[in-house]
Amino acid sequence: MSSNKESWGSRLGLVLAMAGNAVGFGNFLRFPVQAIQNGGGAFIVPYLVCFLLLGLPLLFVEWSMGRFGGQYGDHSTPFIFDRMGKSAIWKYIGVSGIFINIGVAAYYCYLESWTLGYLWYSVTGEFSGQTADGVNAVFTNYVGLSGNIPWVFWILCLAINTWILSRGLEGGVEVAAKVGMPLLIIFGIFLAIRALTITAGSDGAINDGLVGANFLWKPDFSTIWTPKVWLAAAGQIFFTLSVGWGMIHAYAAYIKPNDDVVLNSLSAGWTNEFVEVVLGASIVIPISVGYLGIDRVVELTQSGGLGLGFRTMPYLFQQWGTVLATLAGVAWFGLLFFAGITSSLAMGTPWMGFMRDEFNWSRNKTALSFAAIVFLLGLPTVVFYNQGVFDEFDYWVGTVGLVLAGLFEIILFSWVFGIEKGWAEIIRGADIRLPVFFKYVLKYVTPVIIILVFIGSLPDIYDNLVHKTLYEKIAKATNPTEIATLQTQMSYLNWSRMLLLGVFLGICYLVFLANKKRLKQNG
Ligand code: PHE
Repeated sequence: MSSNKESWGSRLGLVLAMAGNAVGFGNFLRFPVQAIQNGGGAFIVPYLVCFLLLGLPLLFVEWSMGRFGGQYGDHSTPFIFDRMGKSAIWKYIGVSGIFINIGVAAYYCYLESWTLGYLWYSVTGEFSGQTADGVNAVFTNYVGLSGNIPWVFWILCLAINTWILSRGLEGGVEVAAKVGMPLLIIFGIFLAIRALTITAGSDGAINDGLVGANFLWKPDFSTIWTPKVWLAAAGQIFFTLSVGWGMIHAYAAYIKPNDDVVLNSLSAGWTNEFVEVVLGASIVIPISVGYLGIDRVVELTQSGGLGLGFRTMPYLFQQWGTVLATLAGVAWFGLLFFAGITSSLAMGTPWMGFMRDEFNWSRNKTALSFAAIVFLLGLPTVVFYNQGVFDEFDYWVGTVGLVLAGLFEIILFSWVFGIEKGWAEIIRGADIRLPVFFKYVLKYVTPVIIILVFIGSLPDIYDNLVHKTLYEKIAKATNPTEIATLQTQMSYLNWSRMLLLGVFLGICYLVFLANKKRLKQNG
């Protein structure tokens, strides 16, 4: 038995930490972009359906799996899955719950550090008086690593994360959530009010703020039935609710055996949805549509998601005059920072739990080792950002990985462990009654949705696997240097895949060692 006997300080702290883990860049950057790319009003209905039939059920599953494991002193998925499954393979499937978090943390912490850098720029007036192209160039230079700022803030960001993780759940993660979440909501409300009150004709706006909001909220039933929109909606639900990651298990493993998982998971889940569809939808879309119009915004999102938040927003804030622009910049990047840090801390928790449970590592040692891994694994995403390494990580780990992990876990819970036992786990200690309807959803609907999502994404996964777009570009390219650049890019991407695979196998090996140790201890 390990000395890992932490717990949450209070129910409020737990729910805020869980909500903080869910509320992240997904809510403010990814959601608006997904909504715009998928036709605004066409997106919202599939999105809400996926929330009810995929997101909520997986939240119940993950919270109760975590609580189940915690009773036996297991705080990460490998041995939680092992205890619930009937075959030895489950502990290796559970490796996903550590691997995905580390793989995403590698680029997420880098992204998080941009928010600090941009916070700094907002305070120091870097954007004031700049043209749209000028503000855009700031971003290009930033990710091109010109100057020390990107490095300084990346290291600073890793240091802050390590420090908070080393202070443990109650004294670190919970405090960060209690400070960060309220501030985030205040910043968000301020920005949303400003965004929705934009009036066409003043400060150079071409549309009212409400035009963007209507674009999103007016359901468009004519295009709802395309698979692409459903895939995007399901993917967004996985990402934003942090389901499929293995991190909810890790947080829930520290609650008490009869603590309510139904009400707690509903509170955290709905808080995330409030922040996403109320605040997340009311900032980037209304502001950018207000100044640029729907067509231009749709065009801007085609070239990737992060552009609007960093390349465009600081420029649009400038239209409001220096004082308000500075305030808005601080609110926006401050909000993103708090959204990011409460999420990256969560990504550290499975690793913390695993190393402490199995190898009795101290908190400081585990937190430092997490930072070292994130630094080493993150380095390629930082240095080769422009070669697409960042996106490669995001695709394999943060998109495909989640869906696969979600599929395995629902099969484990509803079919291997068994839905009767599983349902009993969910409702034990619950302060509210969960409709039995969800039992059938868990057994049939959720697995079927995930299988459909997976099958629907197979063509895309295949194209990515064989670098289809890159080969097409190479085929079209005429100039030898361009061809060479594209070929180097491909080799970077292949290397980053090998690296990720190596990390996965490395964690498998640790699980193997831990298992041997357990067998020996049990005689
Ligand atoms: N849910 C977070 C977001 O919306 C992402 C995340 C996933 C964070 C898993 C932590 C763990 O950005």
